[in-house]
This record gives sequence, structure tokens and C-alpha cells, in this order.
Amino acid sequence: MPEPKPLPLATYPAPCKRHITGSVTGTSIDSITIAMSYHAQTKHHLDHYARSLGYLDWATQPDPFRIFAGAVRIDLPLAADGLGTPYADLFTPLAVPTQTLDLRSIAILFELALGLSAWKEFKGNRWALRCNPSSGNLHPTEGYAILPTRLQVEAGVYHYVSRDHCLEQRCLLDGSAAAELAEALSPGSFLVGLSSIHWREAWKYGERAFRYCQHDVGHALGAVRYAAAALGWSALLLDWLSDDEVAAILGLDRAEDFAGVDRHDREHPDALILVSPAPVQVPPRALPVATIRAGHWAGQANSLSVSHMDWEIIDEVANATWKPVTDPPEYVKHTPLPPLVSACRTSAATLIRQRRSCVALDGQTSIPADTFFQMLDHLLPRQGVPPWDMLPWSPLLHVGIFVHRIVGLAPGLYMLERDRLIHDRLRAAVQPTFLWEKVTACPEHLPLYCLMREDLRRTAQIVSCHQEIAAEGAFSLGMIADFAETIRSKGAWWYRRLFWEAGVLGQVLYLEAEAAGVRSTGIGCYFDDAFHELLGLAGDEFQDLYHFTVGGPVEDHRLMTHPPYAHLYRT
Ligand SMILES: Cc1cc2nc3c(=O)[nH]c(=O)nc-3n(C[C@H](O)[C@H](O)[C@H](O)COP(=O)(O)O)c2cc1C
Repeated sequence: MPEPKPLPLATYPAPCKRHITGSVTGTSIDSITIAMSYHAQTKHHLDHYARSLGYLDWATQPDPFRIFAGAVRIDLPLAADGLGTPYADLFTPLAVPTQTLDLRSIAILFELALGLSAWKEFKGNRWALRCNPSSGNLHPTEGYAILPTRLQVEAGVYHYVSRDHCLEQRCLLDGSAAAELAEALSPGSFLVGLSSIHWREAWKYGERAFRYCQHDVGHALGAVRYAAAALGWSALLLDWLSDDEVAAILGLDRAEDFAGVDRHDREHPDALILVSPAPVQVPPRALPVATIRAGHWAGQANSLSVSHMDWEIIDEVANATWKPVTDPPEYVKHTPLPPLVSACRTSAATLIRQRRSCVALDGQTSIPADTFFQMLDHLLPRQGVPPWDMLPWSPLLHVGIFVHRIVGLAPGLYMLERDRLIHDRLRAAVQPTFLWEKVTACPEHLPLYCLMREDLRRTAQIVSCHQEIAAEGAFSLGMIADFAETIRSKGAWWYRRLFWEAGVLGQVLYLEAEAAGVRSTGIGCYFDDAFHELLGLAGDEFQDLYHFTVGGPVEDHRLMTHPPYAHLYRT
């Protein structure tokens, strides 16, 4: 994807109550139909792409940085260099010493999760890269900290500005309000909030953009979980909250703070994550929403674009998938597996910040089978092991893999089942001619099957919108969601959760590729039904939600790279 041109500083619908009329876990049958039709309408097909402008309107390019003018700014120290936690230790429960919760450790969390990782320059244009990747580098995701206690800064709600590595004080909580929030959370915990500005992606990608925003939320969730793990902390998605509550806590429903800002430039509430020094046994059941809403709010949001284009279908799917309040999920018990192994002693802080997407792969680098199996092992959930311990549900996505260059493994099509319970349904849904041979060279607990032995490089490239990176890597893959049943039985808002899980899978693959000395790229552009046809999938029981490629990168030496925060001169 071409990089967007940077824009000098310039500024969705307002979060509003949606038509949620009950029946399936809080969402209406209508909402489910809308989510399913959105998905069908935004497929790329071999003979036409999902609707978009078709060209880049540079005059309306959205500002990638949100700021709240007038809010008190708290500069954060750039302290991630000082954190020596080896990447390998993240996966051994209790191996990482718990860092004290203070401004320095919160600064590290945000630097490693959502901070800048570099500036790139080409022919006088500069653009920032971040630790969390984003489709087209458009970065729709905004980050927040909700601090219940005074930590060199007052208790309150803060917006994170990645460019300036600072917190903007959006809401100040006085003593009793802060105490009420602290009471609701486990001791020493705080919250991280995520929201999305859909327009940032829609500007370039039109109707398919809503999918990309959800992928990006998933990547950001993964990024927060890994950063917390590097500090010895746990992180858990509080998935029972409604979007109305998340909007209120983050101040996104405050019309007065978005006065003069076009509705497209407003933020859609996504997630609240409980970050704690210790694994959370009993997540909070209620948060003092009204108290936070009644706090002392400050700051005026900036406008992001001078004008906007309406993509009505995005408003419709955002409405339909608006999350209602639900019961706290049952605590998921994953099947116990042997301990997760990683050989990478590089510090997690270094690895996270060096993560990059590759624009080209060399078509030569191969990966040893053991390394490949280890990467796949990281895609399986284990109790208390990041990042999967943050999602309060069992895996709903499985992985169809094009093996191109794995030493000791025949090229072909493989399937990793991330939950063994899916086996019979998945097997019944795909081509009856598939081999379903369990790969015997891999650890016994890895449910990896060979479906077909064949050189599928050309096929992989075609289904990923003809992008060579899908053929030139050691392997590429498509993530297959248990789609229709999940949405029909759990509610339309699960449409977003499925993409979040895909994004977390992507974040694992990005970091695992770096740890293995290779590189990877998320691929949001793929021909949905072409991949379904290859697998023999008909109907919408299973749907392909994201592609990925991993291999030996080819650097683009035309681009200059600058350090992320040279412009701040801060330590
Ligand atoms: C959801 C998602 C979809 C993406 N799709 C593509 C794609 O189809 N082709 C591609 O070359 N890169 C793709 N990328 C890579 C982005 O362009 C890349 O993350 C972005 O430019 C930022 O660069 P970085 O990952 O090096 O920080 C995708 C990334 C994400 C997160």
C-alpha cells in the first residue's frame, strides 16, 4: 500500500444511542442482518473491489493526530530503553518482575503500545510509524488512560498523543470520585481505553474501512497486552461494558468538547482494558460511569479534515454493531498445553519498537520447521499467557496457511485449528478431497493439518489482491472465522470482536516474525470469496477475515529513517 502523505496539523457520527431492540443477546435481528450485509457488500472480488473513491484526495487527508486544545498536557518520560525484560520471558508466568505503577511505567506502557517507532522520509515527505500497525498507516485508533489514583498526576481521564508522547488531561476526578473509581477496580489497577475515528480509514479505503478499523483495534489490544507483559502486568478486556458506557468514560459523548468538529472526525468507543499488577481473579462488575461523567472535563477536539465524504454503510454497520450492556463473560478455561517456548532474548522493548511491515519480500528466505511451529504455537491460547489471556472468549478464528518455504515441510495448504472443538464442523465445510493429515513433525499439541501438497505461491498471490508479498514469503495465510453462528447466536456486536481477534493474531505474527529474525505484513486486501472457493467454503458459516505474510524482507533504501522522538529531546 502506498504510504499516505503527511499533513500539517489541521481536525463520526457522534456516539449516540443506537436502535437496539432486544432479542439475541441485546441486538436485534435487523442489526445482525445489517452486519452480515455490510460484510457481504465490502468483499473484494476478482473482477471488482469494494466501493471506495478510487483515488487519494490529498486535500482532505485526515490529520493522524487528535489533540484536545486547552487540556493540561503532561509530558511523559521516554523510558522504554531502560526496560530490559527479554521478549522470551513474557510467556513464562511470573518471570517478569512487576514494575511499580507510576508515571514512568505508564509512560513505558503507552510508548510500547501506541507510541511512535520511527519517522520515514521520502522526497521531503515525512510520516510517523507506530508500535501498533495500521492499515495504510492511517491510524484510526486513539488511546486513553483512566487513572484512579494520584501518580504524580491527578486521578482522571487522559488522552494519549503519540506524536508528543504526552497525556492530555481530559477529566479531573476529585478525591471522592477517584476513591469511587479506585474502589471499583482491583488494587493498583487502572484502565486503558481505545476508540476509533472511522473516517481516517474511510478517507482512503471507502466502504471496507470499517473492517480495517476493527483490525487496528485488535492490533492495539495486542500491543497493550504485550507492553503490559513487559512491565510484569496483566491486562484484561472488560467486555461486558456497553459502548454507551465506554463513550461516557472516555468523554466521547460530550458534544460540547467536539463543538465545530465534523461528525466524521468524532471517535467511536471500542474497548476498556483493565491493566493490573497481578492477574485479575475477579474483574470489576460495575464502573462509576455517572461519577466520571460528572468530573471536571477540559479540552476541545481538533478537526481532522477540511471536508469529508459520507460512506453511509459505515454509519449503518457502526450503528448495528454498537455494543449493548451484556452479562460479564464466563471466565474462559483454555485446555492446558505445554509451556510456551521462545528463544528470543532481545528485550521486548527493542523488539516491539523495531517491528515493521515489509513492502517486499525476497522470495528466497526459508524458515526452519521448528521455528515455524513455535510461531504457530504462539497463536494458541494459554491461561495467564499474553496476549490471549486478555480476551475473555475461546478462539473463534482458525488459520489456513500457504506453506511456501518451510525447511522440512512440503509446500502446500495447511490448517491450524486454534480450538480443537471446531474440527468436525470445519472439516465438513471444506473440500472433501483435502488430506487432513496431522503434521507429525510438529509438537503433538499443535493441531496442524496438511490439506494439500502443491506449490501454491501463485494462488496465494492471487487471493491476496495479487500482492507479491503473499507469494514471496516463507508462508502466508488467511484467518477463517466461525462467522455466521457467532454473530447470529451472540449478537451483531460480535462482528467487531471477530476482527479484533484477527488483529491480535496479526500482532502475534508481527512480533514472532521479528523474534525469528524475519519480517511480516498484515494483508487487509484479499479476495474474500476466491479464498473461500479454494477452501471449498460455501455460504457464510466460515469467513476469511484477514491475511498475513511472513518472510525475508527487502528494504526500501529510497526511504530515510529517523528516530521516533528526536523532536522532543526528552529522557
Ligand atoms: C489491518 C491491516 C491491513 C493491512 N493491509 C496491507 C495490505 O493489504 N498490503 C500491504 O502491503 N500492507 C498492509 N498493511 C501494512 C500497513 O500498510 C502498515 O502496517 C503501515 O504502513 C504501517 O507500517 P508499520 O507496520 O511498518 O508500522 C496492513 C496493516 C494492517 C494493520
